[in-house]
Amino acid sequence: MAEGGRYILGPEVEAFEGELADYLGVRHAIGVGNGTDALMIALRAVGVEPGDEVVCPSFTFYATAEAIAAIGAVPVFCDIDPRTMCVTAETVRAAITPRTKAIVAVHLFGNVAPMAELRELGLPVVEDAAQATGARLGGARAGALGDAATFSFFPSKNLPCLGDGGAVTTDDDDVAAAVRRLRFHGSDDKKTFVDVGYNSRLDELQAAVLRVLLPELDGWNAARRAAADIYTREGLGEHVELPVDVAGAEHVHHLYVVRSERADQLAAALGERGIGARAYYRTPIHRQPAMAAFAPGDLSLPGTDEVARTHLALPMGPELTEDQVREVVSAVADVLG
Ligand SMILES: Cc1ncc(COP(=O)(O)O)c(C=O)c1O
Repeated sequence: MAEGGRYILGPEVEAFEGELADYLGVRHAIGVGNGTDALMIALRAVGVEPGDEVVCPSFTFYATAEAIAAIGAVPVFCDIDPRTMCVTAETVRAAITPRTKAIVAVHLFGNVAPMAELRELGLPVVEDAAQATGARLGGARAGALGDAATFSFFPSKNLPCLGDGGAVTTDDDDVAAAVRRLRFHGSDDKKTFVDVGYNSRLDELQAAVLRVLLPELDGWNAARRAAADIYTREGLGEHVELPVDVAGAEHVHHLYVVRSERADQLAAALGERGIGARAYYRTPIHRQPAMAAFAPGDLSLPGTDEVARTHLALPMGPELTEDQVREVVSAVADVLG
């Protein structure tokens, strides 16, 4: 590659974009710098402008809402189903106003939000698929279910690279053109600048890594699902609430997140036994200081508050062995027994 002399938006990025699009079953995949840029660019590409409202969950990684605010739009927080930890058509509908321009559906922890119902709401839906690369819903891949979708290839993700990386996918030729323009300073030809965009590129080196790893993804995701099945089979559900797949979803368990009223006690006791367990979003986004302006005092998100309080991620990964899963289940039983 070094001999090739093209380090920026060269043949590796182009090839990866084609391979990712084929894998997901979409017309366009466009590499960008990271999953946060992917969200800002995708939202603008589907037509979100400053002052527009965008409905998104509060129980997700901060970047989901941050990206909305960063493009001058207004995040409007909606609730989740505590069982699936994803938004539903009902929770989104409750947050829609005449000013709503789009919805961000987060495929949280590798589950897939109920996209068919969400699309029936009649607004553009952007999938935040950062945690769900390879997941399916009704046979189609996350990333091929909305008006546009965003991915992160951060090293801890299901499809990782060796640094920052991201992508936007879409079936819409105009959205794809807007994404390509926005990732390169708002220009189609590098001479005329028609928009104020970004310098947000997937690196050639990262694209080369992603091309090697993409063929491994389905195997890794199958191993994650197998580990989740062992948790179920070994009786973990007698002690904590297990994650529930959205109807028709093939969950890829980016994280394996259970619920317990004694989550913090459990995390500490597992830690003493050398088992890593942690909460990710104890303070949901609508309670974060930077989002105060977007969180009216009377905002009530009971599902979000419940999951924020009770969730705990237990060990999960493609390399997890049956014995390790059994050890976790018996430790949980021991602590909560
Ligand atoms: C749900 C979600 N959205 C967006 C992002 C942002 O991705 P990145 O870290 O690549 O900017 C992440 C991950 O970090 C995420 O988990």
